[in-house]
Amino acid sequence: MPNVNIDRDWDARYDAGDTPWDSGLPSREMRRIIDERDIPPGRALELGCGTGTNAIELARRGFTVTAVDCSSLALKLARDKAASTGFDIEWIEADVQNFGEGIDPFGFVFDRGCYHCCRRVDLDGYLSTLTNVTQDGSQLLILAGNADEQTEHGPPRVKEPELRNELGRFFSIVEIRAFRFMDPGEVDGPLGWSTLLKRNSSK
Ligand SMILES: C[S@@+](CC[C@H](N)C(=O)[O-])C[C@H]1O[C@@H](n2cnc3c(N)ncnc32)[C@H](O)[C@@H]1O
Repeated sequence: MPNVNIDRDWDARYDAGDTPWDSGLPSREMRRIIDERDIPPGRALELGCGTGTNAIELARRGFTVTAVDCSSLALKLARDKAASTGFDIEWIEADVQNFGEGIDPFGFVFDRGCYHCCRRVDLDGYLSTLTNVTQDGSQLLILAGNADEQTEHGPPRVKEPELRNELGRFFSIVEIRAFRFMDPGEVDGPLGWSTLLKRNSSK
C-alpha cells in the first residue's frame, strides 16, 4: 500500500529482519490485563499486528479476531503463522490512521507499538479510527514506549501527560502503568506504558 502517511518503510524492516519488537511471544502485559480485568472474549481488533503473535493469542483465548497492519510482508508472515494453528483470523492491510468507518464495533482493541508511531504522523486520524471501531463499553489496551526509559535504544517514547491528553480525549482512562516490553527469550525489554481505556457515554 502507498506509504505516504506512514512513519517509515515497515516492509523494508520486516524484509531485513530488523524487527527487535517481534519476540515471537504473546505479550505478557496483554495477558495480564485480560486475566486481571476479566476482559470477556468477544470481537477483538489488533491495530499494527505485525507478524500476528498477539492476534493468534487472542484467538486462542476465544476472541473473534480482526488484525490490521500496513505491511503486506508482516501480514504474509502472520497468515503463514496462523495457518498452522487452525484459527480463523481476519487479516486486513490498511492504514490504522484511516480505518474502520462503518465497521461493526469491537469489544476489545489492542495496540502494541503502533500508536507511538502514528501519533507522530496523524494523531487525529488514529484517534478517529479508535472511535470508529469502538462503542460504549469497549475496552482498549495500548502499549507504548515510555519517556522515562534511561537507555538509548527502544521504541518511540511518550510522556504520561501526553498519553492522558491524547487518549483521554475520547476515552476514560482506567489504568496507566509502567511495564517492560518482553524481548526474545522472555527477557525484560524497553520500558513502556500500558494504558487501559474504556469508551463510555460521558466522553
Ligand atoms: C513496533 S511494530 C509492532 C508489531 C506488533 N504489534 C508486535 O507487537 O509485534 C509496529 C507495527 O505497526 C505497523 N504500523 C505502523 N504504522 C502503521 C499504520 N499507520 N497503519 C497500519 N500499521 C502500521 C507496522 O507495520 C508494524 O507492524
